[in-house]
Amino acid sequence: MPHALNLSRAARLVGVTRAALQARIRSGELASMDGMVEADELLRLYPDARLDVDGAFERVTEIKERAFGKRVRERTLPSQELLAERLFEHARELADTRAHLQKYHLLVVDLGERIRALAGDGEGALRAQMRELADTLDRHLAVILGEGESPNAIEIMDDMLSLVASHVVLRPSGHEYFVQGADTLLEGALKAGLALNYGCSSGTCGLCKVRVASGQVRRMHPHDYVLSEAEKRSGVTLACSYAPVSDVVLEALEALGPQDIPEQTISARVRAIERASADIVLLHLQTPRSNRLRFFAGQSAVLGFHPAGSEEFPIASCPCDDRNLHFHIARDPSSSFAEHLFAGVLGRNDPVTVFGPIGDFVLRDEAARQLAFIACDTGFAPVKSLVEHALALENAERICLVRLATRPDGHYLGNLCRAWSEALDDFLYLPIDGAGRSAQENADALCRAIEGNFAGLAALHVYAAGPQPILDEVQRRLCGRGLPATQFARTVCE
Ligand code: FES
Repeated sequence: MPHALNLSRAARLVGVTRAALQARIRSGELASMDGMVEADELLRLYPDARLDVDGAFERVTEIKERAFGKRVRERTLPSQELLAERLFEHARELADTRAHLQKYHLLVVDLGERIRALAGDGEGALRAQMRELADTLDRHLAVILGEGESPNAIEIMDDMLSLVASHVVLRPSGHEYFVQGADTLLEGALKAGLALNYGCSSGTCGLCKVRVASGQVRRMHPHDYVLSEAEKRSGVTLACSYAPVSDVVLEALEALGPQDIPEQTISARVRAIERASADIVLLHLQTPRSNRLRFFAGQSAVLGFHPAGSEEFPIASCPCDDRNLHFHIARDPSSSFAEHLFAGVLGRNDPVTVFGPIGDFVLRDEAARQLAFIACDTGFAPVKSLVEHALALENAERICLVRLATRPDGHYLGNLCRAWSEALDDFLYLPIDGAGRSAQENADALCRAIEGNFAGLAALHVYAAGPQPILDEVQRRLCGRGLPATQFARTVCE
């Protein structure tokens, strides 16, 4: 029987994004049936996929590790208990498959004997045909039992991958993701850029209830929330406290847009304050384990600390980045918050109040294949969040990031952008130096960069963050040259 794989798993095994595989399906190079591809077909297209440490199996993880700068590898192995349960689940499936095969074998042997018996009673041509049929059955059986089919490298890798990472499908959205290591269903979804419903993330509120439609889960953390007997019987569980033991299908509520996420007030702590340049500070906050900020990539939050007061800043990290919240804050004499920060009033572990999320500068169409991001100076903060979200979703076939620096050191974190560009196929990074130029000239340079790298604008989705005069001009010109107005999203960052 052909070994079929879903697209997410297939992409992971050969070390490409799901979007890259979808492109090969659309071009007719790879056959697909109901969202599944065959292992043999995949191996034909990617003959170098191998089961070794430098092979494709590791590549996607490495790309994300380099791209996000996270220590993903440390967290990829499941706990002993989870691994034992997954092995047990595999052994059970293997035993089931063997029992099934045994039944089919007996059935075929019995069928052969009956045909032979009927041939003994028959006459003439019918007798000869029945003998021929019985001999054909015997021959095929001998081939199957004698040689067997050795699984290809993709099949072996698929079995290994399913031990360290379970595949999850959400209904009704059809979103898919992997849960690695000792992550819960909720943590896996957040790291994949999906907006699963949740509240406390520590097993007390019940907002993360999901129904396990198929597959096995295991409790990872004790929880206070009491599931009723009827809920337990129907497969309801808490996504924040359970991990998958096998591949699972979940019925789950997801936020569809900013309007589905409530406002929250959280007391976070300063994890680090770093100078990205003489005039830009990177503020890294961490929320409590039991009280993460729910938000969409690209949104903002109001930050407050005494005596600086409160101000709104775009969040520079992605919801997929665990409890970490990053902000890029520029020196600005009119900002009390920035002045106090640059004066060193805030230090490591100091409390900062976070209120949010705010705004609707979010990825609008997650199925968009061509994405262009424009970031002017600290407009890179919300754009960085969106880029990381787009990378986590793995839907875009092509991403172009154009950064305009109008102030000295405006291309801060340039190494990160270059790392994205080097590690990911079809990721283009274009830095533009706009210091001393007019808004018109800078808008012109941005538009030329976009138009020069996309064949047409009709299918492009543009996300731009920067000063209003530049955004106005870029929007006017791109929309005048064929970019649909609904495919231009913007947020003003002065
Ligand atoms: S998020 Fe509150 S119980 Fe899971």
